[in-house]
Amino acid sequence: MPQSSPPIYLDNAATSFPKPPEVAETMHRLIREISLSPGRSAHRFSLAASRVIFEARELVADFFGCPDSSRVVFTSNVTEALNVGIFGLLTPGDRVLTTGMEHNSVMRPLRHLEKTRGIHLEILPTDPTDGIDPDDIPRRLGKKTRLIIINHVSNVTGAMADLAAIGSRKGGALLMVDAAQSAGVFPLDMEEMGIDFLAFTGHKGLFGPTGTGGFLLRKGLMAQPLKMGGTGSNSEYEEQPQLMPDCHESGTPNTLGIGGLAAGLEFIKKTGRETIRRHEEHLTGLLLAGLGRIPGLTVHGPQAGAGRGSAVSLTMAGRSVADLALLLDRRYGIMARAGLHCAPAAHRSIGTFPQGTLRLSPGFFNTEAEIQAVLAALDQISAGP
Ligand SMILES: Cc1ncc(COP(=O)(O)O)c(C=O)c1O
Repeated sequence: MPQSSPPIYLDNAATSFPKPPEVAETMHRLIREISLSPGRSAHRFSLAASRVIFEARELVADFFGCPDSSRVVFTSNVTEALNVGIFGLLTPGDRVLTTGMEHNSVMRPLRHLEKTRGIHLEILPTDPTDGIDPDDIPRRLGKKTRLIIINHVSNVTGAMADLAAIGSRKGGALLMVDAAQSAGVFPLDMEEMGIDFLAFTGHKGLFGPTGTGGFLLRKGLMAQPLKMGGTGSNSEYEEQPQLMPDCHESGTPNTLGIGGLAAGLEFIKKTGRETIRRHEEHLTGLLLAGLGRIPGLTVHGPQAGAGRGSAVSLTMAGRSVADLALLLDRRYGIMARAGLHCAPAAHRSIGTFPQGTLRLSPGFFNTEAEIQAVLAALDQISAGP
């Protein structure tokens, strides 16, 4: 590809780009037209800001099959959401079942609680391409198993866990799902899948801006808040309120970002989640087929098909992945990510630790021509000096 061609963004697993125009337009309008502090005052701007948050909460609840929008909590990203769940639900002596494909947003808080709170961690056997076997779960559940934590779609290999099968085998444990890579692309229904705690990030498949995310907590379940402070409610008490979602939303929220996230969700509704999924599946299929024809390349993860996300990990004989990413960017204008993708556990599971992989992650706004360009570039690199 000539240097003058527009750059190609293939790092949608990190954050989606571009965002739909309505996301920028909504945020631009909101910051121009209203002050953005909700729930603190009775004046019209504050009420308008409260409406932005309320409408976003309703959209999120509906999107994830949650009957009550007060169970939706906004956070700054999925990392914060997962931390609330892990710190807020586990007590000393609890057992946690998780997988070998988890992100450090899950592994770091768990390893910390292993040391400081005496929780016991069990990692389910994880196949590099197929992930975990849901039938393993009932065999490993014990009386003290409080949580099962599952990465729905791997940010390293694209492998997808069968949530409905896992949800129906969870026994008395709670099911927590890291939906960072799947929300907005794959169906996620809390009720149907038996999910107790669903954590999402706003800036990937939901097309919101960075600094947005959240979680949905099943009715009847409470988690200790991670932070405390002003909520705009029950201000006469110095103790943190118990009511949802206020108990988890201390401090002035990111109203601007949440407004942008709502515009992202509206875009998905208008376009059709299934249309988005099919387009990404098509591009991923093209990519995988082409990669299979390039000498010296190894793809780590599942082959094409409906049961995978769009993250594709690869290594090339004789080239470091850092070198590959640099060459793609500098010589061909193609943006991809190299390394461990904040998921050393996943790389240990697939045998690519510590060097990691080159990750290509197409998104809804990529085209067939862009996939052909990256394939041509990798072909040239594999043949050339
Ligand atoms: C599976 C998974 N979990 C967690 C995260 C963390 O996302 P965020 O940085 O938005 O908190 C990511 C994003 O890289 C991810 O892919």
